[in-house]
Amino acid sequence: TLLALWAVIGYLLGSIPFGMVIARVMNLGNLRDIGSGNIGATNVLRTGNKTAAALTLVFDAAKGAVALLLARHFVGEDAAQIAGIAAMIGHCYPVWLKFAGGKGVATFIGIMLALTWPVGIACCVAWLVGAASTRISSMGALVAAAASTFLLTFMGAPTALLMGIVLTLLIFWRHRANISRIRAGTEPKIGQKQA
Ligand code: G3P
Repeated sequence: TLLALWAVIGYLLGSIPFGMVIARVMNLGNLRDIGSGNIGATNVLRTGNKTAAALTLVFDAAKGAVALLLARHFVGEDAAQIAGIAAMIGHCYPVWLKFAGGKGVATFIGIMLALTWPVGIACCVAWLVGAASTRISSMGALVAAAASTFLLTFMGAPTALLMGIVLTLLIFWRHRANISRIRAGTEPKIGQKQA
């Protein structure tokens, strides 16, 4: 029951759509009508407002980190992983947006940083390598997610491997449209307005 409680808390934290809130508060329009229609930092950047995009990245990452750290503090490592997975599900399928949420990349990074920061940093580096070499945000996401499995195994967090695999599969699933566009060569570059 304690684990179920942390699943609920994680879900509720993860389901706060910061990109949507920030875009509305800063009068940037409806994210659904912009670029990919996604609620994440990449799409907020397509409004042209870098501050709003950075804030979305930080807050979406923070909610994942906070969910994990709270559960770890009050219960332990099992609850922490449940809360992390639940936060990702909350971000991707928020009840407030009729379950049409985001793709989980920033939240995933926050979870990895909170889980064990060297792996989190390594995931950020993997994202940067994937994104910088292609100038495609979703490529960074897919590279970072795929790399996390190896990073967790070899950087001393093998007990979190199951969570890592679940989060990686969820990220790939949420990027299905991006993967099709990458294969078709039509995925927009970072900062490019059209999706
Ligand atoms: O953060 C999600 C990113 O990987 C892709 O976003 O808006 O280009 O689909 P978007």
